[in-house]
Amino acid sequence: STVSGSDVARTKVPFKNITIFGSGMMGSGIAQVSAANEYHVNLVDLNKGALDRSQQYILSSLKRIARKKTTDERMQTNYIDEVLSRINFTTESEHAVASSDMVIEAVVENIEIKQNLFKSLDPMASPQTLFVSNTSSLKIKDIFRDVSEKRKERIGGLHFFNPVPQMKLLEVIKTDTTKQEVFDTLFNYGVSVGKVCVVCKDMPGFIVNRLLVPYMLEAVKMLERGDASAKDIDIAMKYGAGYPMGPFELLDYVGLDTTYFVAKGWYEDSEIQKMELVKPPSVLKKLVEAGNLGIKSGKGFYEHR
Ligand code: CAA
Repeated sequence: STVSGSDVARTKVPFKNITIFGSGMMGSGIAQVSAANEYHVNLVDLNKGALDRSQQYILSSLKRIARKKTTDERMQTNYIDEVLSRINFTTESEHAVASSDMVIEAVVENIEIKQNLFKSLDPMASPQTLFVSNTSSLKIKDIFRDVSEKRKERIGGLHFFNPVPQMKLLEVIKTDTTKQEVFDTLFNYGVSVGKVCVVCKDMPGFIVNRLLVPYMLEAVKMLERGDASAKDIDIAMKYGAGYPMGPFELLDYVGLDTTYFVAKGWYEDSEIQKMELVKPPSVLKKLVEAGNLGIKSGKGFYEHR
């Protein structure tokens, strides 16, 4: 069949309560699309300042969506208030997890931090609670190394794309231990928040990043060789291949550090066998070491003011 997930049992998701760890761009986006589709969300971060920034980020995204839904300003405000009322911004993780049916992590892309998070949550959560990661480059199985054997039946991956409210795709990842009914629930959750879902194996980069990262690195290598300017490569890929952003605009958008650490991790991973394709280019390494990370630091391949 050409339809993804054709063997997934299409049922209604049997729960409403979700906790998300990490209130960066990804965690905020996942909270927003969940709350916009009737889920009750706890958005947890260690840092109150990060939660305040998250609330602002969600608010500005909801304003864009509300303006498209209606020109009536009162209805726009009602919509925004209703969605925000379903998100509880909190630093109290214990209480949040105890009452949740699904926990999704969107914290920094560091394996030890993710492993420790789920190890500590395992005893607090109900035995029924699903444990999910939004990792873009690590193996799901490795992230859940330290949870109980029973919990390993209830783990999986939900890989969203940035900006979450706008990007339609969701990669749904099944590990060797994920029960089929759990995978079905994850897939159906994705459909319920309006995403087009694809089924992925638990391999580094899943589908999109396994193709997108080598493509972005090849662009950097082309620049490094002096074969074309960053600007011309971006223009070429936008107007010649129909990409919404060129590779350097996308690198600045996603963060140079993110792409650099993903490439480095894969290059050093023995299972991917030193793929030359993902060898981090030295230009990328130098920019990252100099703190030029893209839009978030004000400068990457381009200047951002
Ligand atoms: N919330 C809600 N809506 C948003 C939004 C947000 N945060 N950001 C953009 N939009 C909407 C806008 O409202 C607009 O909607 P309409 O077309 O209905 O009016 C639409 O998106 C286009 O936005 P803009 O006109 O402001 O700007 P644009 O045309 O340049 O599009 C973009 C912006 C959607 C980001 C587009 O450039 C794009 O698709 N870029 C590629 C993004 C991409 O490849 N993301 C994947 C990165 S890889 C990744 O995420 C995985 C990883 O693990 C690293």
